[in-house]
Amino acid sequence: MTSKHLVGAACAAIVLGLGAGAWAAKPAAEPWRDARLSPDRRADLLLGRMSLDEQIALLHGHMPVLMKTAPPGVIRSAGWIPGQPRFGIPAIAESDASLGVANAGRGDQDDATPLPSGLALASTFSPELAYAGGAMIGKEARQKGFNVLLAGGANLARDPRNGRNFEYLGEDPLLGGLLDAAAIRGIQSSHVVSTAKHYALNDQETGRQVLSARIGEAALRESDLLEFEIAIKGGQPGAVMCAYNRLNGTYACEDPFLLTQVLKHDWGYRGWVMSDWGAVHSLASAKAGLDQESGAEIDKQVFFDAPLKAAVREGRIPARQVREMAHRVLRSLFAEGVYDHPPAPGGLDAKVDSLVAERVAEQGVVLLKNEGGVLPLAARAGKIAVIGGHADAGVMSGGGSSQVIPRNSIKIPPPRGAPAWGGGIVFHPSAPLAAMRARARGEVAFADGSDPNVAAALAKSADVAVVFATQWNSEGVDAPLQLTGGQDALIEAVAAANRHTVVVLETGNPVLMPWIDKVSGVVEAWYPGALGGEAIAKVLYGEVDASGRLPISFPASEDQLPRPELPGLKNALPEGPATARPEPPFDVDYSEGSDVGYRWYAARGLKPLFPFGYGLSYTDFRYGGLETRGGQGLSVSFTLTNTGRRAGIETPQLYLASGPHRAQQRLLAFSRIALKPGESRKVTLAADPRLLASWDEASHRWKRDPGRYEVFVGRNAADAELKGDATLTAATAAP
Ligand code: BGC
Repeated sequence: MTSKHLVGAACAAIVLGLGAGAWAAKPAAEPWRDARLSPDRRADLLLGRMSLDEQIALLHGHMPVLMKTAPPGVIRSAGWIPGQPRFGIPAIAESDASLGVANAGRGDQDDATPLPSGLALASTFSPELAYAGGAMIGKEARQKGFNVLLAGGANLARDPRNGRNFEYLGEDPLLGGLLDAAAIRGIQSSHVVSTAKHYALNDQETGRQVLSARIGEAALRESDLLEFEIAIKGGQPGAVMCAYNRLNGTYACEDPFLLTQVLKHDWGYRGWVMSDWGAVHSLASAKAGLDQESGAEIDKQVFFDAPLKAAVREGRIPARQVREMAHRVLRSLFAEGVYDHPPAPGGLDAKVDSLVAERVAEQGVVLLKNEGGVLPLAARAGKIAVIGGHADAGVMSGGGSSQVIPRNSIKIPPPRGAPAWGGGIVFHPSAPLAAMRARARGEVAFADGSDPNVAAALAKSADVAVVFATQWNSEGVDAPLQLTGGQDALIEAVAAANRHTVVVLETGNPVLMPWIDKVSGVVEAWYPGALGGEAIAKVLYGEVDASGRLPISFPASEDQLPRPELPGLKNALPEGPATARPEPPFDVDYSEGSDVGYRWYAARGLKPLFPFGYGLSYTDFRYGGLETRGGQGLSVSFTLTNTGRRAGIETPQLYLASGPHRAQQRLLAFSRIALKPGESRKVTLAADPRLLASWDEASHRWKRDPGRYEVFVGRNAADAELKGDATLTAATAAP
């Protein structure tokens, strides 16, 4: 057999999906195939054989859903970059995957499993569940033929109206960063590259392609960038996606500060940077540190193709820089096993995978109010009135590129002017009504809520009324904090008819609750995914404890927000992905700096409707015996006891209250702890050192002042159960 034949055999092995063992007979002439070498070494060896054209071919991608004729075998999804069989480089097949393998362009007959929203996941405060969800979608990606997932959304919830908060992990950099890192590791455990996105400051959808986020470096490093730093260092995603918006005047995908200085230099990131779809405006991106341009079909020009080649020829961009860009792509393909382990289509078992989604959903449901023990419903034999929210059909999901549309989903038209990605508002086919009926001891009657009088009459005839209220959020549009479609009035009417009214919210974000004092119970179920109806019923009936805790503050009114009026809203136009933006550019002044969410409320002395970290359990917990330790690091120990009559889960949170020079609240650590009735446990929480330091712009380092640090352990950001302090030494650290 000649070496040419061997190369042919190797290529056939890729096509046939053979694993790493197939390379046993690799010719020494192709040393990059040796999986024992480091990813960097393999990339170098391979690049030594690649022409400039072959390198550039790795640096721009197509959008198969928009390709007039996609070559055979190309999946109609968000992204595709042809393979180079000569070198054994597989085609890069990308799917959106914030909340499951999205089915852009594949109609309504998909078998991918939708996970609950990011805020539902964040409400679990559980990196283990984040990993499990990531591992499930990573496995499904391989089974569907993808090797790169556009996942890992890590934008900080600076505004509770951001239409994509449901894809992200809330308002705290530590919580969001740790969960994102775990989800990325889960995805990549299946030899699939995950991104972290959208880097950075894409914190509202209104004007996302024209706005400039204004914020100083120290504040940025301590907030939005900190979440990315924790996610990227802990998760090691193969790729990072830069965002649409500008930062301090410069497009994120053209910003040397973001891409080169912070990401690649300060954090030592070794993977590749891909653009968001349509986010490249010039070759300045290549100079700034972007490695790959995505979505050629929607770009004004494919800058990372002929124009890049011309720039190299004319000496404007050095050839070694192109090689470095291609190196990063290849390195990640080697490092994550994408090169050695081609996807293995088939064998997807949506039923089994749905159980992962259900676990996340049931642990992410947050019980916000439970007056007089109206919940759980298990003990109630009387009639229950279920009202509204399409509870007879399914559970709401969020719109946009992350949309997963499993078989038997139900669609209703979106609000006027809103983007209709996915063909409308999608309800995942897991109906709370059926799940409640399966558990109820008495009758469960339903009214669709379209007529408040009919709903109120039904509520009056029942022991308990459960109103389902929904708020649709989608990529490309921000949402008001008020429930829409007359739902507030519906709740008022039902509550007036029956004191035992419970509101179940399926929302992508916090909402205002003008009726809060008139209802007995409130449950935030977010967008709960594949078996969402089951998960809601399990919590309502007390089959599992109510154990979710809020990853985002619920404001009492818009006036409490740093920007009561959403910037840019006046000129906003509905949009699809990456449409040309006719509206004028504008600034969003993030003058609250790193005081995002609960930190803003604490700094201003404001009382939100529900604070960050808040959530009730069906049992009670006692905190006692705080001990603090200082010195080089800060940790606390205390005893947590389940004083109630049933098993339950508590999530104690350690907060900084003030440092040596100023009051400043920060979440330092948390843990999720299951206790049987009467059980006690000694809990130790150690502060993440980054959270005790501040970014010092002059020395370009993290700096911790020596002195006394006051901390508290609490059930949430506003309830200190145990207070203490510790004296810490001075410390500095490189970024
Ligand atoms: C979104 C990204 C997504 C990409 C590809 C963009 O509009 O912002 O999150 O990955 O489209 O679908």
